[in-house]
Amino acid sequence: MTKEHCKLQMPNTSDVSNLEIQKGTLGPDVIDITKLYHEKSLFTYDPGFVSTASCRSKITYIDGDEGVLLYRGYPVEQLAKSSNFIEVAYLLLYGELPNKSMLNDFSESIIHHTMLNEGMLRLFNGFRYDAHPMAMVSAIVGSMSAYYHDTMDINSARAREIFAHRIIAKLPTIAAAAYKHSVGQPFMYPSNSLSYCENLLHMFFSVPAENNNIDPVAVEALDLLFILHADHEQNCSTSTVRMAGSSGANPYSAIAAGISALWGPAHGGANEAVLKMLVEIGSKKNIEKYIARAKDKDDPFRLMGFGHRVYKNYDPRAKIIRDMCHKVLNQKGRADSPLLELALALEDVALNDEYFIEKNLYPNVDFYSGIIYQALGIPTSMFTVMFAIGRTVGWVAHWREMITDPNGKISRPRQLYIGEKERNYINLDNR
Ligand code: CMC
Repeated sequence: MTKEHCKLQMPNTSDVSNLEIQKGTLGPDVIDITKLYHEKSLFTYDPGFVSTASCRSKITYIDGDEGVLLYRGYPVEQLAKSSNFIEVAYLLLYGELPNKSMLNDFSESIIHHTMLNEGMLRLFNGFRYDAHPMAMVSAIVGSMSAYYHDTMDINSARAREIFAHRIIAKLPTIAAAAYKHSVGQPFMYPSNSLSYCENLLHMFFSVPAENNNIDPVAVEALDLLFILHADHEQNCSTSTVRMAGSSGANPYSAIAAGISALWGPAHGGANEAVLKMLVEIGSKKNIEKYIARAKDKDDPFRLMGFGHRVYKNYDPRAKIIRDMCHKVLNQKGRADSPLLELALALEDVALNDEYFIEKNLYPNVDFYSGIIYQALGIPTSMFTVMFAIGRTVGWVAHWREMITDPNGKISRPRQLYIGEKERNYINLDNR
């Protein structure tokens, strides 16, 4: 862009001073630019949506400077201590904590939607034995639109309700089927006598010949991890779900799009990447070398599980997960886990390093979660699937909010075009 161009396009203060400022209940004010293009023929430029509120939402609030995370106004620390995942799912979906009978009805409905159509189970046979579980899970969730036609009408409140319960209930079953496919074991059907997390452990680790003894600490750890992963306002995968759904696409396709977005290592794929990184670092004596690599602009290596777009303080979820790590490892008799020791030492070095201090880079939700999953016997390639199980609740809550928003529009960003100006086609012989 030339300077002259800049001058011509720059609005003077009076041009933009009449833009409306909107105030939320918490957080920074927002400049409403919805009329900017029609009135001033201007777009805004904000790659990565660093300064852009893409929607109005009542679901989750983050104060990144203070390290605060609220679900429907409730601090995540309180929910992690006193609630459980199914209650948190209800809260995120419906906006209020349920009373006993509401919670009971919701739990019963989730339990009674856990089975998969047998045709979907057969789809797994089409995947290679070494297919990444995220590839299978996103494909199978996408395929749900081919099986559950009764919930395809996005304008029906009843269809949206059944969809919500169905997808939350079936994600653990789909995850377990992906796992069983990868280890070549027969699929285990869900059991209605078990809770959400007990059922997941049963479907993962039982075999037809023998039921797995369900470890209460494993149940507690999974429930906590799902609460902490349940929602995180307009993150990449949630924004993807909203964007895909804004076209009127069926909700299963929108969630499948979200699962695909989650897979990336800058997002949910970071939990798998953290564990691989810790294994690669191998020992405390190599920490300085990897910290130096993370700081080197010519090296693509980043400290995985560190940094966040919104948190410029310790991620409150990481603190809670770090404590649960100790509990799980103690219970497994692995209090001196070399992996946890390495992670703690790495955190310590990074938090005292000028580069990480100056850029406000702290451990995020993905830094410690993999150590818990590994201690529970869940393979590394399944870590991001575990994240997806928890986040499905948030995706559904946001999809429902988006689809029922009276001001809802198809998501369709504009661009700053920097390509060729119009030119004439040249015949092949003349090029
Ligand atoms: N290691 C080394 N340097 C880093 C890191 C890191 N993990 N994260 C950010 N930086 C540097 C980055 O190089 C940049 O430096 P400079 O200003 O000199 O160019 C500065 O910090 C700001 O980073 P950014 O990439 O502009 O920040 P962002 O908000 O666009 O990205 C992030 C956020 C999470 C993608 C990034 O911090 C990152 O790649 N972290 C590692 C991957 C990770 O752990 N992802 C999980 C995120 S939390 C859970 C989730 O969202 O699913």
